[in-house]
Amino acid sequence: MESQVSFPVVDPQNFSSRRRNHMLSSHRRDELISWMKEMLHHSFVLDAKHTYFDTFRYFEELIDEHRLSAATGRPSKLRTLVPSVGAFHTPLPLEEAFRYYDQKYAVTGRRHIPPTFNEIRHTLNLAQVFALKSSLRLITFDGDQTLYEDGGNFQYDSILSVSIRALLRAGVHVALVTAAGYANEGPKYEARLRGLLDGFMSSQLEDEAVSRFFVVGGECNFYLRAKRVDPMASDQCQAQVVRLVPVSDEEWAAAIPGKRPFDWPEDECRRMLDAAQAVMETSIQELRLRATIIRKTRGVGIVSGGAEAVKQMPMGHGSLKLKREALDEIVLLVQEKMSSMSPIASLPYCCFNGGRDAWFDIGNKRVGVETMQALLGITRADACLHVGDQFLNTGNDFAARAVSPCIWIINPLETEKILHRILHVLGLDDDQQKLQ
Ligand code: IMP
Ligand code: MG
Repeated sequence: MESQVSFPVVDPQNFSSRRRNHMLSSHRRDELISWMKEMLHHSFVLDAKHTYFDTFRYFEELIDEHRLSAATGRPSKLRTLVPSVGAFHTPLPLEEAFRYYDQKYAVTGRRHIPPTFNEIRHTLNLAQVFALKSSLRLITFDGDQTLYEDGGNFQYDSILSVSIRALLRAGVHVALVTAAGYANEGPKYEARLRGLLDGFMSSQLEDEAVSRFFVVGGECNFYLRAKRVDPMASDQCQAQVVRLVPVSDEEWAAAIPGKRPFDWPEDECRRMLDAAQAVMETSIQELRLRATIIRKTRGVGIVSGGAEAVKQMPMGHGSLKLKREALDEIVLLVQEKMSSMSPIASLPYCCFNGGRDAWFDIGNKRVGVETMQALLGITRADACLHVGDQFLNTGNDFAARAVSPCIWIINPLETEKILHRILHVLGLDDDQQKLQ
């Protein structure tokens, strides 16, 4: 039978492959997880739920073959099945992870509901944690929606902060790698992290452990390190505090000889930012957005415009919250613009839907995590882990996948739970209890 689906007629001369790909591969889908879900669905409809385990073992084998193929430059079987599949930096014990998950949540016991997208995401996360080795040297965390709620601050003495201290004590470096960019102004990052930093003091975290905590701001543009300091002379009654201070020139010189990877040429930054800003300005008119634009040295963003924007756009929307659809549209338009610029955009960049806003930043978290690895002298991706909430191609954690194993959470509570698992696998949960 002929397909009933009809596609819009387009002029092929005016239809770039980039645009075509945007229409065909949805920005709201993770193709690997969707494909796994479809595979598991076969077992479900055949009422053969016990075969979920075999299917996960099969995924595991495909991932092993994919890793081997990457090393030899051959196309893998997994890539033919899931063309957008990325790199795997470790093997993934998926069958073991699913057995664990099933013991707790009885997925195989369900008659009406097959394994869902989120359950497969959790199984992949667990497998990534089981694959961790005691050689883990660096965990990087996204900020908004991973360590704290969108736009919020880190809670004082939360379970998350206890877990982070346990990692730092055990010799693991921890970095917040966030898009939020406040240049090298430590106090601005400190305001959001005060709850965590004060916990370093009250729990008497040793100086060396404190210095294992870093902040990477503006995706990869600004690098700061935690340091215990004496109070300012003007404030004698205050005790010592933990501050965030820019990584020093000597530290950079010792770690990365030559030019730093994020020393971008200013004129190219400006040209790319101008192009992104022009797309955002046009979008405000075309999508009738009650929005305003924020321009920084390394980023440009579009945010809700409040009452003032209602006056500018009497018939429109978004003064308090911009619609997801509008934000995604802008991200895809800016990405399209970047790939069609002449001369082409020559710097790494990131354009993403932040949930309540959309941003275009010079640089991305791939460069941020890679630079942290270089700064700490880490040469193996499997000694690292990145935890974040934005792994769709309109998200900003996506770029980190190229250089580090990743865990995909959707809120700080999930981060807390997965961190608990990580501490258990690393044998650090005793330490965590001691600290609580
Ligand atoms: P992340 O989830 O920690 O990477 O932070 C992303 C959020 O940081 C965005 O959704 C914005 O609300 C906020 N933000 C603040 N300044 C910037 C910037 O310069 N670039 C991108 N995002 C920013
Ligand atoms: Mg986030």
